[in-house]
Amino acid sequence: AAFSFAAPDRVIVVGAGVAGLSMALRLAPRPVTLITASPLGLGTATGWAQGGIAAATGADDCPALHAADTLAAGAGLTQPDVAGRVAAAGPGLVDWLVGLGAPFDRDGTGALALGLEAAHSRRRIVRAGGDSTGRLVLETLVRAVAATPSIDVVVAQARSLMRDAHGAVAGIVCERGGTHLRLPARAVVLATGGLGALYASTTNPRGAVGGGLALAARAGARLRDMEFVQFHPTAIAVGADPMPLATEALRGEGARLVDEHGAAIMAGIAGGDLAPRDVVARAIFQAQARGARVFLDCRGTLGNRMATRFPTVAGLCATAGLDPSREAIPVRPAAHYHMGGVMVDASGASTVPGLFACGEVASTGLHGANRLASNSLLEAMAYAPWIAEAVEALPQPGLAQAEPERMRTEPEWSVIRPLMETRVGVVRDAAGLTEAVERLAPLARAGCDAALVGLAVATSALSRQESRGAHWRSDHPDQAPVRHTQTDLAEIRALSD
Ligand code: SIN
Repeated sequence: AAFSFAAPDRVIVVGAGVAGLSMALRLAPRPVTLITASPLGLGTATGWAQGGIAAATGADDCPALHAADTLAAGAGLTQPDVAGRVAAAGPGLVDWLVGLGAPFDRDGTGALALGLEAAHSRRRIVRAGGDSTGRLVLETLVRAVAATPSIDVVVAQARSLMRDAHGAVAGIVCERGGTHLRLPARAVVLATGGLGALYASTTNPRGAVGGGLALAARAGARLRDMEFVQFHPTAIAVGADPMPLATEALRGEGARLVDEHGAAIMAGIAGGDLAPRDVVARAIFQAQARGARVFLDCRGTLGNRMATRFPTVAGLCATAGLDPSREAIPVRPAAHYHMGGVMVDASGASTVPGLFACGEVASTGLHGANRLASNSLLEAMAYAPWIAEAVEALPQPGLAQAEPERMRTEPEWSVIRPLMETRVGVVRDAAGLTEAVERLAPLARAGCDAALVGLAVATSALSRQESRGAHWRSDHPDQAPVRHTQTDLAEIRALSD
């Protein structure tokens, strides 16, 4: 559709993964301008999601059980009302995708084929193409967006948010081919994904460096629980960057974590190979710190079924010259998902009027200290209609004013990524976190957004003097009373001065 510069009633959606595309579709027929850094279908973490979508659709399951598992994994920081509401939305969201043509896997009776992943008490992972769920869901949503005339797609980099005289977000400034576009809007929804690529080892696409978090913070939004970064236990360690993923669903089908002598890594740990993700990631990290090599052994229970049941993993292994039906897959933990983010309410609204956040960039209260596997695509889809409803009720903002251009510096990745990995990684302590803060602060002050986001993670991690879920402090191994951390631009600056 033609792109219009004069559409103040439009909504801007930034990001084109499952959150951004769902958002744009749910806002229709209201005009939407979808800002995406890469052409539709490319560059998003959604396309790489293997496991699937958690939804209580099985005969032995119900949303209350799904919510209880989500709460247990969240280690005290998941909000029960949010878990209940999102779990209850799950089956309807799967139906919505089926209605759009999503090709979910079915069993012999035509019912949805359900997978099992860590810390789920039931088989409830809805999948497509075996382990190609993200790619097939993304293709389904891209097709639907292309068929929706109210959605304009603009390939550009979001640079800053515009606000009206009362401070409400009223548009966005983007950059395309060296030209700045000022786009006034009724509201802006950030659906920009996470920050895994701030780490040297990550399963995330290169662009996942917290750009939306920096935009929101610079517009005055509060960020919550920024220290909670989830490390996936089984990234495939074959020297690739980003690291290919070996889905947790493999362990759901019986694959086992072993060392180079074949000894079980998870022996004696509650939950074994299907313990919550943070527990498994730490066990592997600690085994590797002791010098062990760790492998995911799929030969016994999966063997020759690998290629048909897990074609994506089999393909990723083949690219690296590995045959998982004959040899064990070398693995190690890698930054995978950010539980913290822009603090939002039940409508997805941030603390700045007119600014919403959806998907990984948001902190809704669902994931707490440790996200339950396959709850991320679910959350991203669940909030889209709730945000769309809230946008309808917004007053029209005043005249949008662009912030003056500020100094911007390119990230020094050779400094930031190893620093985040070694000092703000799976196991943290005050000395390492303090070093990270001291080295990131000057880069952030010089106008580097990636350093600012890393700094928010490090300062929040320093302030949380306990171990909980994905945040593990070797100098504070016990739990303190439950509390959320919150921060904003002024606090991050003050703490790092
Ligand atoms: C996986 O397939 O193991 C990843 C699923 C997720 O991150 O939720």
